[in-house]
Amino acid sequence: MASSKTIYVTQPELPPLEEFLPYLRQIWDTRLLSSGGPFHQMLEAALCDYLGVRHISLFTNATIALVTALQSLRIAGEVITTPYSFVATAHSLMWNGIKPVFVDVDPVTLNMDPARIEAAITPQTTAILPIHCYGTPCDVEAIQRIADDYNLKVIYDAAHAFGVRREEAGELRSILNHGDLSVLSFHATKVFNTFEGGAIICPDAKTKQRIDHLKNFGFVNETTVVATGINGKMSEFNAALGLVQLKHVDGHIARRGAIAARYRELLADVPGVRTLAQPSGATPNNSYFPILVGAGHALGRDGLYKHLREQGVAGRRYFHPLISDFPMYRNLPSADPARLPVARAAADQVLCLPIYPALQDADVERIAGLVRESALAVESPMLLAA
Ligand SMILES: Cc1ncc(COP(=O)(O)O)c(C=O)c1O
Repeated sequence: MASSKTIYVTQPELPPLEEFLPYLRQIWDTRLLSSGGPFHQMLEAALCDYLGVRHISLFTNATIALVTALQSLRIAGEVITTPYSFVATAHSLMWNGIKPVFVDVDPVTLNMDPARIEAAITPQTTAILPIHCYGTPCDVEAIQRIADDYNLKVIYDAAHAFGVRREEAGELRSILNHGDLSVLSFHATKVFNTFEGGAIICPDAKTKQRIDHLKNFGFVNETTVVATGINGKMSEFNAALGLVQLKHVDGHIARRGAIAARYRELLADVPGVRTLAQPSGATPNNSYFPILVGAGHALGRDGLYKHLREQGVAGRRYFHPLISDFPMYRNLPSADPARLPVARAAADQVLCLPIYPALQDADVERIAGLVRESALAVESPMLLAA
């Protein structure tokens, strides 16, 4: 049955409480609360296994992980990034005293357009910071080619890309193994959540060790501090929760896939509405369900956003405004809207519809029905009045 309560863009997933209680009891018994305790170690091992990556370092959230990832590779000067992301992507640069240089995105994937990167490189450029937006894989090969040519590092903001795989050399491999480092978010709103949390995927044990030191104030032992580290450690509570969540995540991703498929079916021929193409050869996680609402829709994006709200459906305009529109960025030359036409158009048109495992089929149908009916609202004004 369709619910009468407000439907938000997401609803955090929680495991049955009984499954979590034995973990809590162990924490209470051992009084091991933080600093790389047993659950922290177990979750790192379990995630390496689940995600198909070699090394992972758990963090308190993805923002601190991004800040630390940049520190660990000693990134400085200028970094080329995307304006079409959550603001933490660029903020992580500013926290390191790095100048973000925005380049436009690709109109199909809304990921950073590799063709724009080269023209933005200067002698100060040290790295590229793209995101796998909505979990859609970036053109990692093209980005790596440019990074190799110009000797730049690549750090992926992979906050949306938990569990995303791509066909490579005849098998499905994690998208998280590309670039020098990838950063995941386990925030409450993400496909896999530990309430708050995040992680850095590292290619080798030495890099992980440096990152582990940096997230622990720079300590390597009781009396030696080797860097101006920060406190980015995930607690035992969050790590234990992650172990329980991991048992359910395949089911959650499958349910998201079914909802996305139903939305695609129901919205296929709605005037003025475009869904993003599914990347070929990739297994998506459907962390978001963005639609682009163009001039062909009678209400336009903001009208539809408002109409859905009035009907108890709280979609979100991710990512509007662009990061480059915020006051701390908008005076940068690369923030000039004329240089970012594709990102600007996407920010003006995007609306993320609710998607989460507990969303009922009847609600998906009702939401898609609202989008469809209002598309023709000018011809049938009664639909909106109803
Ligand atoms: C693309 C992107 N990067 C970074 C973050 C920050 O993650 P966290 O909330 O774990 O710090 C988020 C979302 O929260 C995000 O969507």
